[in-house]
Amino acid sequence: MNTPFPPPAIAPGAKTMTDFELVGEIHRLKEERNAIILAHYYQQPEIQELADYVGDSLGLAQAADKTNADVILFCGVHFMAETAKILNPGKTVLLPDLNAGCSLADSAPADKFRAFLDRHPDHVVVSYINCSAEVKAMSDIICTSSNAVKVVQSIPADRKVIFAPDKHLGAYVQRVTGRPLVLWDGVCEVHVDISLDKLKFLLGKYPDAKLAAHPECPPHILEEADFVGSTSAMLSFVQNDPGEVFIVATEGGILHKMRQAVPDKKLIAAPANAENSCACAECPYMKLNTLDKLYTALLTGQPEITMEEGVRVKALRSIRAMLDLG
Ligand code: 13P
Ligand code: SF4
Repeated sequence: MNTPFPPPAIAPGAKTMTDFELVGEIHRLKEERNAIILAHYYQQPEIQELADYVGDSLGLAQAADKTNADVILFCGVHFMAETAKILNPGKTVLLPDLNAGCSLADSAPADKFRAFLDRHPDHVVVSYINCSAEVKAMSDIICTSSNAVKVVQSIPADRKVIFAPDKHLGAYVQRVTGRPLVLWDGVCEVHVDISLDKLKFLLGKYPDAKLAAHPECPPHILEEADFVGSTSAMLSFVQNDPGEVFIVATEGGILHKMRQAVPDKKLIAAPANAENSCACAECPYMKLNTLDKLYTALLTGQPEITMEEGVRVKALRSIRAMLDLG
């Protein structure tokens, strides 16, 4: 049987190659392995540039669902690659760095989530895609920031609903839909670190600026926003809105595609409290992926995403319920 990962005759060391050489090798190996590279908007620009598809969590799940490739090299974080594996049990799914986790997914360990569900029987369980396969397996339907409102609105009005694990996204959905939701107490450490004081300073300095914010931001940030939406929706907003100046309240990686899309508009990253290399909100997990790790993953077929088949089958039901909503 052909394996997509025959041992290389000579394994060139990634560390000895220039970025230019690494990009060339990644493209060569991608063809050889029949691989597709999927990347989230928060990846480093050089990774976004070589990806076959760059998108938000929903777009990435849909791309993973329809690919014919044998290998999916997922440039994002663990829950995203896990979702690709749940949808593609027969394919090899690689994540360049297995430590690329997510504070939201980590906030909901499977045993504590089970106990929470047991304390709230008879609820429909809606889980944000930023959670583990085990939590997805305990959920009725998954949502992303693109479709969370639509998913909750699809549930009959007489049913009680749990929303996990992001309490800020949950509170936002609650405000938009008017549906009471039982919220899990999780947050994204990156979005809660966006500084309201620094943001207000910027809004004062640029009175015509429009603020686009991701719904993982806390309510005090969302209250200031002209637009709230997923990363893809934020990108569309800056493209389609007639404004000339935008403050962008999410992880700074999105600015790469935004700058390409609207080179003549002024885009300002909402600053974080903590000092980061970009002085914006920076996800330390997303930034673990690097060109040399992508190369090594395609060369060796590791690190590979694996999971128990029983968990995968249950998790697939809740992901399918979301994808079937369209
Ligand atoms: P999007 O689905 O909006 O891209 O969000 C993913 C994410 O992890 C935001 O922090
Ligand atoms: Fe998770 Fe926040 Fe990083 Fe998104 S930005 S992957 S929600 S920690």
